[in-house]
Amino acid sequence: MGSRPGKRHGYLIILLLIFTLFTTPFASAEPASERQKELETLLYQDCGSCHGMTLRGGLGPSLLPEALARYNLDAITGIILHGVPGTAMPPWSDLLTEDDAAWLADHLLSVKPASP
Ligand code: HEC
Repeated sequence: MGSRPGKRHGYLIILLLIFTLFTTPFASAEPASERQKELETLLYQDCGSCHGMTLRGGLGPSLLPEALARYNLDAITGIILHGVPGTAMPPWSDLLTEDDAAWLADHLLSVKPASP
């Protein structure tokens, strides 16, 4: 027992704890406002390319709140992340985190889309 490697370990654990404390509040929060703007752009441009520029429907069905009322937030988040197999609706989990998708789902259910 010449040197004491255990002490160094202790520092690492404390550093890790501090790191966790500082990052956890952000991990499950809604996306930062910058990201929210990006997501909104994605919604009208990428999603809109199939669901219509005003989300009233095109190749894909309308994404207006009344059209999605039969789903809950989790169901819509799941559709966005995983797509609808066997249809043109692609999975977005490569591009979007779960928080991103949940934010979009909430946005679709609650926010009036842009007028035509
Ligand atoms: C390549 C075309 C395409 C793109 C891009 C696309 N979708 Fe879809 N989406 C579809 C189609 C087609 C359906 C209908 C699938 C079916 O028949 O159930 C659909 C279904 C959905 C549904 C379920 C609607 C319902 O009433 O069942 C949601 C929610 C949805 N899409 C959200 C999104 C979002 C959010 C995006 C962008 C992140 C997106 N979609 C991008 C084609 C697309």
